[in-house]
Amino acid sequence: MQFPEYRPRRLRRTESLRRMVRETLLQPSAFIYPLFVIPGKGARKPIGSLPGQSQVSVDEAVAEAQECRELGIPAVILFGVPDKKDAVGSEAWNDDGLVQRATREIKRAVPEITVVLDACFDEYTTHGHCGVVVEGDVDNDATLENLGRVAVSQARAGADLIAPSGMMDGYVGWVRETLDEAGFENLPILAYSAKYASCFYGPFREAAGTASEFGHRKTYQMDPANGHEAIREVSLDASEGADIVMVKPALAYLDVIARVRDEVDLPVAAYNVSGEYAMLKAAAERGWIDHDRAVLETLTAIKRAGADLILTYHAKEAAALLRKG
Ligand code: PBG
Repeated sequence: MQFPEYRPRRLRRTESLRRMVRETLLQPSAFIYPLFVIPGKGARKPIGSLPGQSQVSVDEAVAEAQECRELGIPAVILFGVPDKKDAVGSEAWNDDGLVQRATREIKRAVPEITVVLDACFDEYTTHGHCGVVVEGDVDNDATLENLGRVAVSQARAGADLIAPSGMMDGYVGWVRETLDEAGFENLPILAYSAKYASCFYGPFREAAGTASEFGHRKTYQMDPANGHEAIREVSLDASEGADIVMVKPALAYLDVIARVRDEVDLPVAAYNVSGEYAMLKAAAERGWIDHDRAVLETLTAIKRAGADLILTYHAKEAAALLRKG
């Protein structure tokens, strides 16, 4: 049937009809809220390049988790911003480290919040790379040894999901095996499966203090030009035991999210990264876009592309907007 018999506008005539035929429902249950944990007590340091976001001390991270619970956001992901760094990032597997302590405190105060821990080294190394550097490049297998230590330390602290993010070959299988051997066979893995060497991580590197001293990350993070390779990476991670796979960043990679969604039967997560958040905030500050509508449209697009879960700095404001209706 075609015009004039068929008129698609019929179903757009009233808010009630539009609601009835809406295909994508955005809900706070899809959100994972990132937190940057710093040393100290009662500390909140606003992050210049991420308006509205702050680095927080452990006690303030607990307050943030409480706020998430009240807003219906099920999970937080923690990044440590330690003052101790070394060449291999050994602070990452300190059982008494910032994220380990924050995890214990959050699980004690707000047990129903899911704590996701990013298993990586760039916040903990003096050079800012995601592992052990040998001759100017990150050494894959030496990094895996340390990654196992990080995962076990995070598991002991009570993390609910381990999220290895360094894009090392074989990293998911390695983490799975190490966790199983340590008795954590029920702890799931969220794999940063298709993580691109993106400029959109800029503000995060300020927030987490991870700007690299030298070089770039193109020998481990993916080339933004590649789509088939994302499927290969996701399939590998799935076969190595990933429980959830992730595409990162989200907005310039909606096609990748959609392809990954078609390819695997695992839950798919997408990381709405710092640069995406910062661009929206900057345009809204100048009055160039409607902030609230842009937030919801952006997150809906990521969901529509196929993401079940969205890691986003917008989580709290989006949950509040959705509640308002
Ligand atoms: C790596 C890591 C990165 C982000 C989170 N974990 C990227 C990187 O610097 O390579 C970026 C997240 C963001 O930009 O919001 N540990």
